[in-house]
Amino acid sequence: MSKIDFLKTFIKDRDVASVTPTSMHCVKKVCTNIDFKQDFTLVEYGPGDGVFSKYLLNKMTPGSKLILIELNKDFAVRLQESINDPRVEIHNTRAGDVESVLSPEDIGHIDYVLSGIPFSFLKKDRKHVVLQATKNILREGGLFLAYQTSGHLKKPVMEVFGNYETDFVPLNIPPYFVYKVFNNGT
Ligand SMILES: C[S@@+](CC[C@H](N)C(=O)[O-])C[C@H]1O[C@@H](n2cnc3c(N)ncnc32)[C@H](O)[C@@H]1O
Repeated sequence: MSKIDFLKTFIKDRDVASVTPTSMHCVKKVCTNIDFKQDFTLVEYGPGDGVFSKYLLNKMTPGSKLILIELNKDFAVRLQESINDPRVEIHNTRAGDVESVLSPEDIGHIDYVLSGIPFSFLKKDRKHVVLQATKNILREGGLFLAYQTSGHLKKPVMEVFGNYETDFVPLNIPPYFVYKVFNNGT
């Protein structure tokens, strides 16, 4: 998908929340938290045109799995058309509904959840729904990684997970805060 098509999708849908895909600098920085030597299952919320998804697929082992949860129908269709890989599942739904589309055997066994959805657009209770669903699907020791435009997620993340680290990535439009959160199982 071209940058112009991404911009057109943003103009039609405010939930897209960014005028351009994430920079490769930021993609690589966020993905330094992932151990690509091991098989893993990763759920991605808001893959958009797939800038993270395609990077992940290039680095993932053959035994790994990538589950994409994209609310925007145009993006979901484009992902279906542009990714032909048996390791990928694509669901056109919202992140808060992730538990209803995952296989029962995946719930509680996800190694990573990566999120680009604009949490700042969600009301407090919806933020909690998404964060609690995320905690439910992650295995103990699993990692939640989220790139966001501000530090607004610190409080709800603390309330649900009880921990976080943040990093700032200025070389992106917009600049992002990257959250790294462990599911410590409590
Ligand atoms: C800031 S864009 C990030 C796109 C892409 N991951 C990137 O890094 O360029 C946010 C994405 O989240 C999607 N989105 C917004 N709210 C969502 C939700 N509740 N559930 C799933 N996807 C959502 C948007 O359609 C869009 O694709």
